[in-house]
Amino acid sequence: MILPDMLEAKKRTDKKSKFLYDEYKIDENMKIGKNKKYYIKTYGCQMNEHDSENLSAILEDMLYERTDDMMDADIILLNTCAIRENAHNKVFGMLGRIKHLKESKKDIIVGVCGCMAQEEVVASELKKKCKWVDIVFGTHNIHRLPNLIMEAIKNKKQEMEVFSIEGDIIENIPYKRENKYKAYVNIMYGCDKFCTYCIVPYTRGKQRSRKKEDIINEVKKLKDDGVMEITLLGQNVNAYGKDLYDDYGMENLLEDVAKTSVPRIKFVTSHPWDFTDKMIDIIAKYDNIMPFIHLPVQSGSNKILKLMGRRYTKEEYLKLFNKIKDKIKNVSITTDIIVGFPSEEESDFNETLDLVNTCKFDLAYTFIYSPRVGTPAAKLEDKSSMEEKSERLDKLNELINKYAKESNEKLKDKIVPVLIEGVSEKDNNMFMGYTDTNKLVNIKADKKYIGKIIDVKITEVKTWSLNGEVKVLEKSV
Ligand code: 5AD
Ligand code: SF4
Repeated sequence: MILPDMLEAKKRTDKKSKFLYDEYKIDENMKIGKNKKYYIKTYGCQMNEHDSENLSAILEDMLYERTDDMMDADIILLNTCAIRENAHNKVFGMLGRIKHLKESKKDIIVGVCGCMAQEEVVASELKKKCKWVDIVFGTHNIHRLPNLIMEAIKNKKQEMEVFSIEGDIIENIPYKRENKYKAYVNIMYGCDKFCTYCIVPYTRGKQRSRKKEDIINEVKKLKDDGVMEITLLGQNVNAYGKDLYDDYGMENLLEDVAKTSVPRIKFVTSHPWDFTDKMIDIIAKYDNIMPFIHLPVQSGSNKILKLMGRRYTKEEYLKLFNKIKDKIKNVSITTDIIVGFPSEEESDFNETLDLVNTCKFDLAYTFIYSPRVGTPAAKLEDKSSMEEKSERLDKLNELINKYAKESNEKLKDKIVPVLIEGVSEKDNNMFMGYTDTNKLVNIKADKKYIGKIIDVKITEVKTWSLNGEVKVLEKSV
């Protein structure tokens, strides 16, 4: 049993990460899943979704088959998120349901993995109160899933393996990608920014970049397989390469990925701190880099930004924001905002509203601050009530929605390129896709357009989505 240790997880040394090309291994005797099914529930961010694509591939290597019905599964994995308390509550709620299921189906294997497993408080709760959970493993232990399953079956007791390490780069874990036309490609892992509210540097290890050759080869292969859109993934992608190269950073990588001529490229998430002018120039220069940037601001108050350890002021953020707007034609900028950070007063919150009024974001993800055990902000005195915080969130959301709709309205009657992904979930007679500015469009189209980028005329505008119809014949794809 290896339990998480947040103090260890916090450590950063000069030790270089290792690149491991044969760390994941699957032996013949591990192929025990024939005629059995697996179900994975993923919480949280795109990084977690991508990790679940690893988990799926590993389970399929073991010959398990995927099911979307948990009741039908022989193995259930919850890939968890630790970023806020509500994600935590959802997982324990789900575990309650699974416990019932396991009472009638004793042989099912239940696993908890992902960021929550990296938290000491969670691991000890699982150990004490949920002994029936068979396997618990962390973000650094994904490649060990077959071994953990085998050990849990053999030993008939909870197997817990959570490494609290800076982390290496394991290159040979397979992926089972969910979407035929859109793919995530990890470019880096972890984070060293240590914003005071954030648990990520503790759950995902140090900031470490993949080798540029490995990334480019993966992109080329995906392009050959017909993938139309690549999302370069990392907790802080703008810091790409800093740990690995003297003279090769995110701008170089973006340019090299653009040169593979994969039709669409985007990247998440950017910290404003490392966003260089060169990056902006490269995004502006290449047509296949989408004019879409997610640039979390978190707050419009310099006092709060300082307490959050964000390393920029409101003025610096605005300077960068305006530079991006000036240089990248029709760019769409989205953001993240936290309300109710400890010691946020009405005047600080009003500054956030002012910033939103200035930036008029295309979209924003808004959150009430949630204290995370082990982070510096969790020790700060927090006087404002939950009621006050909820009121602030509502007020902020109202403003965000107004600007989201306004930015969508600019597209009314315009013709925009849309990557058609498939049939719309809400209406089987409609198709859905995203614009190059990452806006969701429901389209009157034909199934022959699925997987293609086509021109769509926007006919109707809503707050969260657009409606449109195919306008001209497909582009060269
Ligand atoms: N409480 C609330 N929101 C948080 N985020 C990160 N940590 C917390 C927290 N402790 C938000 C930030 C980040 C997004 C992914 O989640 O806005 O950008
Ligand atoms: Fe968390 Fe992002 Fe800050 Fe890293 S940069 S600590 S992931 S909010």
